[in-house]
Amino acid sequence: MSFLVCAHRGASGYAPENTMKAYRLADKLGAHACENDVHLTKDGEIVVIHDSNISRVSNGSGEVEKMTLAELKKYDFGEGEKIPTLEECLSFFAASGMELNIEIKSNDDVYDVALVEETGKLIEKFGLTPKIIISSFYHKSLIDMKERFPLIRTAVLHGDEIKEAGAYAASLEAAYSHPHFKCVDEKFMAECEKHGVEVNPWTVNTPEDVKRMVDLGCNMIITNYPDMALKIR
Ligand code: G3P
Ligand code: MG
Repeated sequence: MSFLVCAHRGASGYAPENTMKAYRLADKLGAHACENDVHLTKDGEIVVIHDSNISRVSNGSGEVEKMTLAELKKYDFGEGEKIPTLEECLSFFAASGMELNIEIKSNDDVYDVALVEETGKLIEKFGLTPKIIISSFYHKSLIDMKERFPLIRTAVLHGDEIKEAGAYAASLEAAYSHPHFKCVDEKFMAECEKHGVEVNPWTVNTPEDVKRMVDLGCNMIITNYPDMALKIR
């Protein structure tokens, strides 16, 4: 079975999510890729964290966009880990063989195109364009990325079913559809294939679901347990 394994927020089933520890562990386990989530700080730095507030994953509290990088770095994000900047993360991925799926966390209320522009510039600075996929639930950020950095591959994220997901992704020049795995069936796969769009479902955390996704022809499995998916491979 030929498919790729992407460690969701790093090997987050075993290490604090979105930390360097979780990325190093994913590498050690043999993952082909990792996923992370990015936000802008008050002082315009890009940090790797899922939520807009740090309270769930750290010993602090507050909104990322209202804190400076120096303030954020004071907190413990689990097992003594500090919040990584995207730059620290890219430096690690440039040295490792893994690919990276960067998820731009934005919505209509919180959107600063600087997040897209600075992410693209950092990717170019590290020479990582061929190893990066940019995804987002906020599809305008994918259009903005493609306009500014046409060679960076993008992926349309969606949690609910969308009609003609392949045609839609192709219309945004996205190479991939990143659906919640419950949306994926034969019809979904056939429609994506028709438009040359590959399918990378998330977050596939049981062997049964990994097998089902792979049998349907998915390209890359996004999971908290990369070792589990690699065992199936
Ligand atoms: O990119 C796949 C997945 O990360 C999307 O959902 O909420 O875990 O960022 P979420
Ligand atoms: Mg994510």
